[in-house]
Amino acid sequence: MIICNALTRRYDDITAISDLTLTIEDQEVFGLLGPNGAGKTTTMRMLACLISPTAGDATIGGHSILDRQGQQEIRRITGLLPEAPGLYDTLSAHANLDFYGKLYGMPSSLRERSIKEVLEKFDLWDRRDDAVGTFSKGMRQKVAIARAILHDPTYLFLDEPTAGLDPKASKTVRDYIVSLREEGKTIVINTHNLGEAERICDRVALINGRMIQVGPPENLAKGLFARTLTVTLTEEDPSLAERLGTLPFVASVEASGARLKLAVTDPERTNPQLVRWLVEQGAQVQFIEEEEYSLEDVYLALIEESGRR
Ligand SMILES: Nc1ncnc2c1ncn2[C@@H]1O[C@H](COP(=O)(O)OP(=O)(O)O)[C@@H](O)[C@H]1O
Ligand SMILES: [Mg+2]
Repeated sequence: MIICNALTRRYDDITAISDLTLTIEDQEVFGLLGPNGAGKTTTMRMLACLISPTAGDATIGGHSILDRQGQQEIRRITGLLPEAPGLYDTLSAHANLDFYGKLYGMPSSLRERSIKEVLEKFDLWDRRDDAVGTFSKGMRQKVAIARAILHDPTYLFLDEPTAGLDPKASKTVRDYIVSLREEGKTIVINTHNLGEAERICDRVALINGRMIQVGPPENLAKGLFARTLTVTLTEEDPSLAERLGTLPFVASVEASGARLKLAVTDPERTNPQLVRWLVEQGAQVQFIEEEEYSLEDVYLALIEESGRR
């Protein structure tokens, strides 16, 4: 479990992230979603113990990022794919990983086994002796992710893992992230890409210098927009529209031909009454639907509302 408690980081007069409080469950794919400058990288760097918070605390697997022993433990159980993963271009894929494995103090037999396993996972074993400078962007990213998981961490931090990758390479990386959850890992990914968050994250925290909202991606819309129902009649009925407006739970009615748009606050509770009323009025109802907002509408509205871009 990862627990952030009022986690805050200032740089002089800029507050990159303020008062971030959230809990990430084990085996979740959790997204930190927000526009550029939202504080995603800063948050991840604090969790990976690369920088300290200026206020607040976080624990990972029960270890605090604030104390030295906790930091050591956290480095052991976490892997990080940084925003700009520096690889040694002149070294082979194998040598890059071997170098890292040594840094992590992995004995040589374990190193060999792990390097083979991760490179095979990414279909790079046959290219293990080629310099990563000759690799495509997608292949380099795979090597960088392989490096982050080499020491078999329980928690994985991936900062914009598909940034700059073409759709096919992005999909490979996304599929791989989902497969890691199945292996029992807890994964935090930073992304400004709403579609990506929607596709792979169990929950997302929408942040923009602070927490805006947290929940499953499909729930971001709840509570943001007034709920709108569209009632489609078999034919136009102007008087019905007028009478609908007198119902206590209908805030407004907008008629366009045989389609009526109703603003309501609690359709789960009041729709049965609405349907009963319509039938009593002899209305010929073809469809009743709730208007859906795209996740993109929601995202843009929330970012706008949070007053920082
Ligand atoms: N080392 C730094 N020094 C000064 N300001 C920084 C530093 N790192 C980040 N910032 C600022 O903090 C804010 C959040 O940045 P960052 O965490 O990189 O956001 P994101 O990853 O969401 O794009 C930005 O305004 C950025 O300019
Ligand atoms: Mg960033």
